[in-house]
Amino acid sequence: MEKVARRHIAGTDLVILLGDITVQGTDAIVNAANSGLRGGGGVDGAIHRAAGPIIDRECRAHVAQHGKLPPGRAMWTHGGNLAARYIIHTVGPIYRSDEESEPVLQSAYQESLRMADGLALESISFPAISAGVYGYPLDKAARVAIEAITDYLQQGESSLKLVQMVCFSNASYAAFSDALDAV
Ligand code: APR
Repeated sequence: MEKVARRHIAGTDLVILLGDITVQGTDAIVNAANSGLRGGGGVDGAIHRAAGPIIDRECRAHVAQHGKLPPGRAMWTHGGNLAARYIIHTVGPIYRSDEESEPVLQSAYQESLRMADGLALESISFPAISAGVYGYPLDKAARVAIEAITDYLQQGESSLKLVQMVCFSNASYAAFSDALDAV
């Protein structure tokens, strides 16, 4: 069975799919980075490897100029060797409690969407931010993500026609499609 779930929200298609974010052909892909923008494991490592060394140089230059990227904020680099033209790097929270972590995770999604709109992009792909090494429980991370994206799109005009959630495992796909059903 093909794993795709979709919903139309205020002129934008929100699509959940099972796949690898590094091969998505959307205008931008989002990276679940760390504050030092130094690359890492997980999706961060996969994106840095696939995009090539130019990304590391742009990240280092950003940190040298602006300092570390705080959790909940976003910055962009070019896409290097990727099909995507841009990588929007955001930092999710290390999960501690819903009260402390949820606003930061919500901000990571919404700041990334705002950045994509600032660049007048039509399509963007997200990974499950914070749901790996940063320990955010998957069901909760999926609910916060879907609500944050939905709220943002319902707020008004966006250049985005397509927002993809790219899930790397069946468990992740199930959590995100359940969260979409609940909206
Ligand atoms: N495509 C899509 N999703 C992926 C891919 C991929 N190629 N590789 C991993 N993932 C998924 C993981 O399965 C997980 O569901 O991305 C989700 C986020 O997991 P992490 O990459 O561990 O990100 P996060 O929990 O936000 O932790 C960030 O990890 O790699 C370091 O530098 C990074 O310190 C930062 C921390």
